[in-house]
This record gives sequence, C-alpha cells and structure tokens, in this order.
Amino acid sequence: MSTPLLIRVLNGETPARPPVWFMRQAGRYLPEYRALRAQAPDFIAFCLNPEMAAEATLQPMRRFGFDAAIVFADILLIPGALGQKVWFEAGEGPRLGALPDIQAMRDLAPGAGQALSAVGQTLSLVRAALEPERALIGFAGAPWTVATYMLDGEARTIGKGERAQARTYAYAEPDKVAALLDVLVEATAHYLRMQQDAGAHVLKIFESWAEGLPDDLFQTLVLAPHQALIRRARELGVTVPIIGFPRGSAALAEGYARQAGCEGVALDTACPLEVGRRVQAIKPIQGALDPLLLRAGGPMLDRRIDQLKEAWGQGPWIFNLGHGILPDVPIDHVHQALKRIGAE
Ligand code: CP3
Repeated sequence: MSTPLLIRVLNGETPARPPVWFMRQAGRYLPEYRALRAQAPDFIAFCLNPEMAAEATLQPMRRFGFDAAIVFADILLIPGALGQKVWFEAGEGPRLGALPDIQAMRDLAPGAGQALSAVGQTLSLVRAALEPERALIGFAGAPWTVATYMLDGEARTIGKGERAQARTYAYAEPDKVAALLDVLVEATAHYLRMQQDAGAHVLKIFESWAEGLPDDLFQTLVLAPHQALIRRARELGVTVPIIGFPRGSAALAEGYARQAGCEGVALDTACPLEVGRRVQAIKPIQGALDPLLLRAGGPMLDRRIDQLKEAWGQGPWIFNLGHGILPDVPIDHVHQALKRIGAE
C-alpha cells in the first residue's frame, strides 16, 4: 500500500513534500556512529561486517526518520574485489596498493557481486528492519571515480584534489584507462545486481570526480561508462530505478540526464537552481543543499531550503545535500532542515 516517497518521485510523481535523505547520513557527526566505529578500527572490515554495517545504516533512520536508508559501505570495496589492496589511514583517508594486472581483474569482475556478498547481507538485514514506507538505497562508485583511486595507488599524494594523476593517465595511456573502465563496468554491474537481489529498492552511482573535466573527457570517462554500466546492469536483470550523480558537472547535466539512461539525476551544491529546473524537465532530480550551510544552521539554512523548494518543489525532487554531511555538523541543524522541508 505504501510505496516509498522516494520511489514515487523516481516514477515522476510530485508528492506533497519531497522525500528527504542525506548523503553520508551515517557517519561521524552521530555519537552513536562514533561509538560503533570505535569497536571496528579497520574501516573496510567494518563495511564488510553485516551486523555492524546494518546498525550504522539504521542509526540515522532511528534518530531522524529519513525517507531512505543508504546501505553502509564504500565505493572502494570494488577495487578490493578486483584484487587491489585498499586500506584507510586514520585521519588521512583511503590508500590503495599497486594496480593489479588487467587480465587478472577482468577474470575477477563477474564475481564482484559474490565477493561482496557481505554488503548484500547488510542490505537484507536493513530491509527486514525498515518500515515499508522507507526506501533502501544500494550504491556503487562510477567507473571513472573508482578508477581515479585505483590509478593513483600509492602515489595518491600526487595531485590530490583534482585527481590530476588519473587524468594525466587518461591522456597519456587512453587504452589502458579504457580497459580499466571496461573492467569496472562489468564488476559494478554484477555488484549492483547483487544489491538489488538483496533488497535494494533504488541504486545510486556516485561519480564524485566528474568535476572539472573538459567535455571530451566527460564523454569518454563519465557519460559513456555510465551508459555502458546501466545497459549492462539492465542486461543482468537490474530493474529498480538508478540515480546518477555526476558531481561537479552542472554545465553538462542536461545532456547527462538525456543520455545516461538513469531514472534520476543527483545535482551538487554548485548547480544553479535554473539548471536544476531544466534537468528536472528531463528527469527527476535530487539535491542540493550546501553541506556547509547544514553545518552553519540559522536563518540562512531556512532561507535556502525555501529557495530550493520554490525552485524545484513543483516537480519530482528528492531533497538532499549537494555532497556528504561533514563530521562536525550539529545534530540540531539536521532537525532544523527536516522541520523546514516539512518532514518532521
Ligand atoms: O551514509 C552514507 O552515505 C552511506 C555510506 C557511504 C560511505 N562512503 C561511508 C563512509 C557512501 C555512500 C560512501 C561513498 C564514497 N566513499 C564516495 C562517494 C561520495 C563522496 O563522498 O564523494 C567516496 C569518494 C568514497 C571514498 C571514501 N570513503 C573517502 C574519500 C573516505 C575518507 C573521507 C572521510 O570522510 O574520512 C571514505 C571513508 C568513509 N566512507 C567514511 C564513511 C562514513 C568515514 C570513515 C570513518 O568512519 O572514519
């Protein structure tokens, strides 16, 4: 009877208020997350422990009653499933070992779903605990974003923010990068299929590093691999709606919405409201409150939520941030945002 609001919006409906969830809604801004995390010093092992990961997924649901839960996992589980060493350095973020041989990764790609079946167990545990009106989101990193981490490997310090190492590689060794993207398309399609089977209502593709690409690279590194991934996932039996998130590429977002093949398009903080409106004429949209405004709170937070509502609230829109919640966001500000949008 109660189709989750999130699904209704992805079907093109405009409910009385938009569904709400926040990227990185499970995380260090929650004291209960910090307590759980303290029991699991190894972040990857934490992601692959279904009981703990399900608990982390459900913590923000209990506290805030978001309209969707996103499975607690990480985009960097896929390199691990392809035989690359991945670990998290405390206070520094992810580190990856040397890139494995391409043929070895190709051989492992079809088994990526099975290799990450722990994430499926997390999804099943969460699905069983979730009220029927809440949606469960599974996800994966997009091929290019995951490739940037894989290619940086141990040299991750080179050109940190701009993914300069990986992008230089995309120009200098286009065939090698294309081969890696192909392997990631195959592995990720199987991984998404496994997540659907385990209970995900919706799947999201995180392209965190679509930012700053010239349009020819956007075509070959972002758009074409998304098309290939979505096509392959459908071939493998994925039928649930897919949200694409080409972060930092508002100027190309309309073309993306038309061509990528996803059911919804997530917009980032810097996407102009007017561009969002044009994208929304093509596909349901998600976004795009500034995570720093959620940190700041106060009258500016209310004002911007009103602006978003006015610009996008007349069409299919999922209220979210433009990027993940920061670890120092006050919990009160999350309540303030939920109240302002009418979800609390
Ligand atoms: O609540 C959720 O949104 C679900 C869980 C989730 C995590 N990572 C948990 C996590 C999701 C959807 C991701 C995606 C992810 N992971 C992305 C794409 C989205 C984005 O933020 O652009 C990327 C680029 C990663 C890779 C990654 N994982 C980095 C760069 C880091 C370190 C940065 C940091 O905040 O420490 C992580 C770690 C990570 N993934 C944490 C969480 C909650 C923090 C780990 C901790 O508890 O110490």
